[in-house]
Amino acid sequence: MTTSTTPECDDKNIPKHVAIIMDGNGRWAQAQGKSRVTGHKAGVDSVRAVVKGARKSGVEALTLFAFSSENWQRPEQEVSVLMDLFMYVLTKEVKRLHKNNIRFQVIGDLSRFSEKLQKSIAKSEQLTSENTGLVLSIAANYGGRWDIANAAKTLANQVKNNELALDDVNENSLHEHTCLAQLPPLDLLIRTGGDFRISNFLLWQAAYAEFYFTEVLWPDFNESEFEQAINTFDQRERRFGKTGEQIANK
Ligand code: IPE
Ligand code: IPE
Ligand code: MG
Repeated sequence: MTTSTTPECDDKNIPKHVAIIMDGNGRWAQAQGKSRVTGHKAGVDSVRAVVKGARKSGVEALTLFAFSSENWQRPEQEVSVLMDLFMYVLTKEVKRLHKNNIRFQVIGDLSRFSEKLQKSIAKSEQLTSENTGLVLSIAANYGGRWDIANAAKTLANQVKNNELALDDVNENSLHEHTCLAQLPPLDLLIRTGGDFRISNFLLWQAAYAEFYFTEVLWPDFNESEFEQAINTFDQRERRFGKTGEQIANK
């Protein structure tokens, strides 16, 4: 009789691409009688923790929702602190990402950010562009509807310039122009903070993602919480429209 020497955990189905709606910073801070901004600052530690967790577990791509296209509607002071924090983290953390062979990119409509921030983003992306490890995408001024509309606009322009036939406007060609098209399909979408909604995040990309919702507020989300989320993925049966029997007999 042959016995397998492979440890059980090696057989685990690890999601290739994980995205997180990092929610609950404000409530975390307010529960301690502190300002919402304190929560955003504390949330940076959780970002470090999940990046570490993703690398450890062999996730290939991690996409984090940092600022939505709707978040501009928040009080001016909060938005301003978030921008400063973004700038600070970029300048402070990117070297470490680079050292860890992480490829860093920002997705979203960057044109609304200050020139200084745009430059810092471009510099960080450039520095890490040749890296072959984890791909870390930060969604900033990102909206799922914007993403799809933007892809549609690119295709429309190609049709207008006779570079693309109208019949070639389809799911595949539109997909090519959405954000993250170059990465593995989104496998797992995590939302912290206890709400059960997508808040205009990866609408196109989440078509067949598994969802994981947790009450844990973002600043309390750590490596072990991340591991827990990854572990539940292994128990999901992904049918992609087929029957359970078809999947079991594969
Ligand atoms: C998520 O935390 C961070 C951003 C949206 C920038 P929130 O700031 O939304 O925290 P809550 O949901 O108000 O607790
Ligand atoms: C979603 O959180 C955006 C980010 C986490 C960056 P929000 O707190 O903005 O979502 P809503 O407003 O509760 O839907
Ligand atoms: Mg929120």
